Amino acid sequence: MIEVREARLEDLDAIVSLMDQLKRATSQHDAVTTAGVRTSLQAMLRFPEIYRNYLAVENDGVVGVVSLLLYKTFLHAGGTALINELVVAEKDRGRGIGRKLVEAAIAAAREQGMDEIEVGTEVDNLIARGFYKVVGFAREYVLLGRDL
Ligand SMILES: CC(C)(COP(=O)(O)OP(=O)(O)OC[C@H]1O[C@@H](n2cnc3c(N)ncnc32)[C@H](O)[C@@H]1OP(=O)(O)O)[C@@H](O)C(=O)NCCC(=O)NCCS
Repeated sequence: MIEVREARLEDLDAIVSLMDQLKRATSQHDAVTTAGVRTSLQAMLRFPEIYRNYLAVENDGVVGVVSLLLYKTFLHAGGTALINELVVAEKDRGRGIGRKLVEAAIAAAREQGMDEIEVGTEVDNLIARGFYKVVGFAREYVLLGRDL
């Protein structure tokens, strides 16, 4: 059975491995480093009202992660939840785990009083775009990016 629970610092290696797989899926070739992910995870764990990371776990093994940002804007009094990263282990895709993680993210966002939930994906990530459509997300914005 697949359970969803909040991530802890002890889950670092599993999260690093999933981030590696996310990079592969999105054709990003720079390496994921354990030190970099540790720094981010430690910072996120200090601010649980802003960052939530949920893991899908099966038989004590981590099979997916969703990383959620909860933020305020002037036009959304309750706030907006943003799915920053979502990845299911390559061998476990197509088993309903991504949907489960999105449902956990939505439940957490509702519980925190957020008005909406959103996600950005690369234009050419057709698998993710197909997936998000099936789980109820509609194309509303165009997100523009620039590397710093
Ligand atoms: C996108 C991703 C998270 C989906 O996870 P998953 O566990 O394979 O998806 P699920 O099995 O939960 O699928 C849920 C639904 O989406 C549908 N779906 C999945 N991929 C789809 C696609 N490419 N096109 C259309 N529908 C799709 C499934 O058929 C399923 O529908 P159903 O519940 O009606 O049967 C997974 O493919 C992944 O990790 N990709 C690499 C990382 C990535 O690109 N992340 C998103 C960018 S942050």
